[in-house]
Amino acid sequence: MVKAYFELVSPYVIVTGGSSGIGLAMVKIFHDQGAIVDVFDMQKPSADTLQNLSIHDETVHFHEVDITNAQAIKELVSLISVKRGIGILINNAGIAHIGNVLNTTEEDFQQIFNVNIKGAFNCMQAVIPFMEEMEQGLIINMASIAATIGIPDRFAYSMSKGAIVSMTLSVAKDFIKKGIRCNCISPARVHTPFVDGFINKHYPGKEEEMFAKLSASQPIGRMASPDEIAALAYYLCSKQASFITGTDIPIDGGFTRLNN
Ligand SMILES: NC(=O)c1ccc[n+]([C@@H]2O[C@H](COP(=O)([O-])OP(=O)(O)OC[C@H]3O[C@@H](n4cnc5c(N)ncnc54)[C@H](O)[C@@H]3O)[C@@H](O)[C@H]2O)c1
Repeated sequence: MVKAYFELVSPYVIVTGGSSGIGLAMVKIFHDQGAIVDVFDMQKPSADTLQNLSIHDETVHFHEVDITNAQAIKELVSLISVKRGIGILINNAGIAHIGNVLNTTEEDFQQIFNVNIKGAFNCMQAVIPFMEEMEQGLIINMASIAATIGIPDRFAYSMSKGAIVSMTLSVAKDFIKKGIRCNCISPARVHTPFVDGFINKHYPGKEEEMFAKLSASQPIGRMASPDEIAALAYYLCSKQASFITGTDIPIDGGFTRLNN
């Protein structure tokens, strides 16, 4: 039998936002690699979706929870630590927003802050004490190229992803001696319900045109697939990636450095 080249650092993986898009692709890959996955999401995927992905065993646990609720996250993490263990946290859940500094409302700003920043903070604050106890742990946060590249009309969203990069560096620095590593991933556009949702909402009647325009904005000429992002996350969670910490890894079809 051929041995898989990449071995997970831990079989216990928490994925936030794992019921859709990139998160769901991660759940699939971790499930297929024999991990026990706990998904924190507001919704569960449909039975059909799970069946199509051949996720039908007892190793993936979907918890309907809002990551902005610190108390609920603490209780859930405690429960999981007793039942299974805590090895890897992937802070992937996030929401989109379109607007510049002038037309972003205070409510929208607060909402982006709550989900994209405080949600990740809540999950890290809940899992790190257990990782510290075990003197090992790995956290992957989902940032975006919007954190470091000026993208039009993404004021609040970019702010939130910039905070993800900063929180990643801070956690990586503070806990490196405790055996905890922390990295983030910065994709450019990935074809998920997140992208379809904002195209439908903001460009009604022009969906195809916008899809083509967004695809062409990446030098490689297309959006990424969720599987391509999930594969990078899988590598980062492997023993073979154990020298990587405190970094932000772009996966962007050339968007960051070739768009000139
Ligand atoms: N799709 C892209 O082009 C792209 C590019 C760069 C970065 N990202 C980032 O990748 C991540 C995943 O994006 P996606 O495209 O797969 O999105 P998606 O909308 O397909 O999935 C996001 C998931 O997060 C869940 N979620 C949202 N708010 C939540 C909350 N408060 N509590 C718990 N779960 C919540 C949703 O229910 C959903 O299942 C996000 O952080 C996003 O910012 C996406």
